[in-house]
Amino acid sequence: MKQKRRRQLELGLVAQGSVRGAAPGAGRDRRAADRLDLGYARLRQLYELGALLGSTDAKAAAPQALRCLGHTMPLRVAMLIEVSAGSAHTFALRAQAVPDAEVDLAAAHARSCLARLAGVTQLAQGRLELGAEPLPLPAKSGAPGRSPFAALPLLLDRREVSGALYVRGARALGEADLAFLSAAADQISLAWDGHVAWQREVRLRQRAEALDRAQKDLVAVVSHDLRNPLGALLIGIQTLRRWPQLEAAKVREHLDTLHRAAERASKLVHDLLDVARLDAGKLVDDLTPVDAGALLREAAELMRPLLAERALTCETRVEEGLPPVFADRERLLQVFSNLIGNARKFAREGSTVSVAAWQEEGEARCCVCDEGPGICAADLPHVFDRYFQGPHGPTAHGVGLGLSIARGIVEAHGGRIWVESDEGRGSRFFFTLPLAAG
Ligand SMILES: Nc1ncnc2c1ncn2[C@@H]1O[C@H](COP(=O)(O)OP(=O)(O)OP(=O)(O)O)[C@@H](O)[C@H]1O
Ligand SMILES: [Mg+2]
Repeated sequence: MKQKRRRQLELGLVAQGSVRGAAPGAGRDRRAADRLDLGYARLRQLYELGALLGSTDAKAAAPQALRCLGHTMPLRVAMLIEVSAGSAHTFALRAQAVPDAEVDLAAAHARSCLARLAGVTQLAQGRLELGAEPLPLPAKSGAPGRSPFAALPLLLDRREVSGALYVRGARALGEADLAFLSAAADQISLAWDGHVAWQREVRLRQRAEALDRAQKDLVAVVSHDLRNPLGALLIGIQTLRRWPQLEAAKVREHLDTLHRAAERASKLVHDLLDVARLDAGKLVDDLTPVDAGALLREAAELMRPLLAERALTCETRVEEGLPPVFADRERLLQVFSNLIGNARKFAREGSTVSVAAWQEEGEARCCVCDEGPGICAADLPHVFDRYFQGPHGPTAHGVGLGLSIARGIVEAHGGRIWVESDEGRGSRFFFTLPLAAG
């Protein structure tokens, strides 16, 4: 019995101190004792809230945090709202039997309170997530409709309003209730603050690690892949200088070798510069309407002599009436060259390379297909990674930058790139581009 009463008290159900048959003086003592009890219960809730927020991801703990508040205060709705990119994402819990319409109204009101707290005119409605567990509201509490509310700011760094704690009570909210809610909001702010700082630190560490990796990769590539062609150039030039009387055919042979070495070195330097531009977000210039079909045919024409060296036929197919795409012409040409260049490298001698463009789902799609060895399932998720190289093809290998650059270019256009392949049955590289009219 005593325990039942204490529970009711915690929920604020019985007028504190109203014990039938008690003497008048005893009533005052009882009221004071009840207030003390409630105070202790709330202190315990705050302590539990702090422990909860400290031990888990502060944002993921929202359902338990809100239920924590409901244990000592009868609430119809409780919400945690977070401001993110100008819109308010809300997580809400409601007591049993509180209808959807009341939750929606409360969410809209909470958003306008938060907009006022943050000093902005309005906040767009973001995600509204409703927790499955109900708030512990006792059966006999009332006040639907215009129930009393409280909205408390959640502050980042003690300055910036990053969200709000919003509740609608099942009875009037007194000063003690507001003090409790304010202390809870402080706890939640502190935990969110810690969470944001931790995320920032993780991001900084990841960036530093990526930079460190990129630098090591760069040193490895320059020292390994650039040294070979430069070495070939030096030796070739020395030979020509030492033996000026060399017959013409031999001289041409040496010059061809020197030319290939210089081309390899130049391609590598260009690719490394592209990677650096990609990282700086400066790889792609202004996008203008471009005829993707004409560009695809141009790319195929440019590659035709190289394809012919391996007796490869290039077929092009462009859907009639394909609208222009938004693109940086030179960079889009580079994507086609990289993909067709790979097909040339890996395809079976004498086979066909097909290049196509068409419209699908409101965007342009392009495809480069070959009849080469294909890519094994284990390698498929990695082919667009920087410096990734699978098994060597039948011709000279590169350094594994071509596809990562192609991906960077396509994504900078707002498109996607992917590959489908079955080992032994060729590869099909696809990419999408936004239509200029879209
Ligand atoms: N058409 C293809 N057929 C089979 N494997 C391919 C094909 N295209 C790419 N790959 C695989 O993906 C890897 C990465 O390709 P990517 O174009 O990035 O590098 P690369 O061609 O080896 O060198 P680079 O392009 O820098 O000269 C290749 O090494 C190869 O293993
Ligand atoms: Mg390549």
